[in-house]
Amino acid sequence: MNKIKIAPSMLSADFSIFGEEVRAITAAKADYLHLDVMDGVFVKNLSFGPKFIKDARRYTNLPFDAHLMIVEPWRYIERFAEAGADIITVHYEACKDRLKDTLSAIRKLNVKCGAVINPDTDPELIKDVLEYCDIVLLMSVFPGFGGQKFIDSVVPKIKTVSDMIKSTGKDIELEIDGGITKENVGIVKEAGANVIVAGSTIFKEADRGRIIKELREI
Ligand code: DX5
Ligand code: ZN
Repeated sequence: MNKIKIAPSMLSADFSIFGEEVRAITAAKADYLHLDVMDGVFVKNLSFGPKFIKDARRYTNLPFDAHLMIVEPWRYIERFAEAGADIITVHYEACKDRLKDTLSAIRKLNVKCGAVINPDTDPELIKDVLEYCDIVLLMSVFPGFGGQKFIDSVVPKIKTVSDMIKSTGKDIELEIDGGITKENVGIVKEAGANVIVAGSTIFKEADRGRIIKELREI
């Protein structure tokens, strides 16, 4: 069983003081920094690109977990690798037939890679690429915005993907993203998730060290 990791979604941070936010989250003992990249096409929102991520490196040594919510992500993976991403995840819905090639291209850049699926995508569709993944990211909201409500029907899918991962015999992390709170974090861990993304739940608290510890230990 993989250790539980907490990956604060920096989308909920105050971008006008991003460096300080990164420093505070690092001091609060997060495991990864979850960086949500949005292009206004794959999702109906815009966030930031590689330069923003690169500039954040001055404030932390934490692994950068770049979640690309963009069309044709293969066009940008090199840029995100150069910017210092340690993990790059790409959506099945944005890659379809090119998913395996895109994952392999990320690995060739010496960056960990993963496939992401939306709440309504059948996990079977990524079964064949699991062996090319270091991590699988399961969305528990439709991507685009922080602060949405957790979709309960994703819970059995966590279990399905967790079983699929186990049957590969490989050490693949299972990350869950969207609407995670103190109330539902126990359920998603029990279902098999070991990397927990949380944005609004962490950033609305003044004591981030405490909420991160709580999310990890509940
Ligand atoms: C949604 C993003 C998430 C989001 C999480 O498109 O991928 O990472 O920011 O935020 P919360 O935890 O507030 O749902
Ligand atoms: Zn995300």
